[in-house]
Amino acid sequence: MNLSVIILAAGKGTRMNSLKPKVFHEVANYPMLYHVIDSAMALSPYSCNLVISEQMSDQAKLIKNKYNKVKFYIQKKQLGTANAVMSVTKTRVKSINDITLILFGDSPLIETKTIRKMISKIKKNNADMLILTMKPDDPKNYGRIIVEKNRVKKIVEFSEASLSHKKIKLCNSGVMAFKNSILNKNLSKIRDNNSKKEFYLTDLVEILNQNKHSVLSHECNANETLGVNDRTDLQKVDSLFQLKIRNKLLKKGVTLLDPTSTYFSYDVDIGKDSTIFPNVYFGLNVKVGKNVKIKSFSNLEDADIRDGCEIGPFARIRNKTKISENSRVGNFVELKNSKISKEVKMAHLSYIGDATIEDNTNIGAGTITCNYDGKRKNKTKIGKNCFIGSNTSLIAPLEIKKNSIVGAGTVLKNNVSVGTTVFRKSELIKKKNFKKER
Ligand code: UD1
Ligand code: CA
Repeated sequence: MNLSVIILAAGKGTRMNSLKPKVFHEVANYPMLYHVIDSAMALSPYSCNLVISEQMSDQAKLIKNKYNKVKFYIQKKQLGTANAVMSVTKTRVKSINDITLILFGDSPLIETKTIRKMISKIKKNNADMLILTMKPDDPKNYGRIIVEKNRVKKIVEFSEASLSHKKIKLCNSGVMAFKNSILNKNLSKIRDNNSKKEFYLTDLVEILNQNKHSVLSHECNANETLGVNDRTDLQKVDSLFQLKIRNKLLKKGVTLLDPTSTYFSYDVDIGKDSTIFPNVYFGLNVKVGKNVKIKSFSNLEDADIRDGCEIGPFARIRNKTKISENSRVGNFVELKNSKISKEVKMAHLSYIGDATIEDNTNIGAGTITCNYDGKRKNKTKIGKNCFIGSNTSLIAPLEIKKNSIVGAGTVLKNNVSVGTTVFRKSELIKKKNFKKER
């Protein structure tokens, strides 16, 4: 059996009130659509087909670069979900037993294991169609499902629903699967004679029933299929995704002191016995090793922090920074595009950019790498076992070789050779009665 996936993502997303296409709004710093494509790809489908609108051509390039197997279809006018499916015709496999799965680009929490259950149910019962249903706390304007004797008889769209329909708790998640042959034969029978003048894919259920085909349902946890139509939905879906990440981390042996105050990106990776203090932000591409402490109000992005480090409070680490084992980065330290080796200490108030710092070096409070000369970003190299005194300005490009000492308050322009102490002599003038004399 082959599986074709069709992901619908051409909708206007008017209710988002945004210049950006809806499916490109992010959940845990990752476009909703990518969450959906990843779930689809995990099924290793025969084909993955994406329906987008003409306005999404810029984004289409991004998607193409990321997923070279996805095929694109443009839906010229957004005439409804059935019309969107119609724009994908040629690539669907034709064998009778093959299955087409429909996913929505605006429902990013769908899990691969749920889809697998749907597919095994449709196969086991040799059903013609299967609808993934849910019972959300607030059924809002989801389509309502009418079931008789374990068969789905009809889906009533909210815009067409009577008061009694609206009382039905069982809703359409939007995710559905069909036998290809059934879809091919019946899709064109859908009409737009409804209040929105749209071609509703959900009308297929009634059409199949009229032709004695069997439509089954599978209920999943409502949280998994929440659709994002406005910013309130987006916020809700994001917080559910945060909950998922937190639970995964807790299971992995990470301590979260105040889980709800920490924000994670979808790709965060934290090792065993690490502790995350309250109010920490994890941007994209952050890897944290074992036994690490990330203290409050730290902001991490694109960082690789190895075992035993202690970071923060109030640390900012970004742009391809790597910190090796057992190093300490304290409060008000910013690290950018730097490689910090093992057991390095920089406990307070520093800016270290485009630098490499070798093992066991101490960076005093107020050390600044002056990496930018107005045109270029220049590199600073500091060898192992160095001691950089407080309040020093290291004017890059600069190299300080191992075992050297830089005295406090030094503005350093010249390279320092191995085992050398450098400091600026500035005299302290002492005068008694200076005020009176003046
Ligand atoms: C749809 C379902 C509804 C279900 C709900 C679940 C239909 C008719 N209704 O309603 O039963 O409860 O999802 O979230 O299917 N799209 C296109 N082209 C279009 C229209 C939509 O590609 O012309 C895409 C959208 O980008 C979106 C998805 O299809 O990803 C669903 O469209 P949307 O307008 O959000 O449908 P709902 O009103 O939410
Ligand atoms: Ca929707």
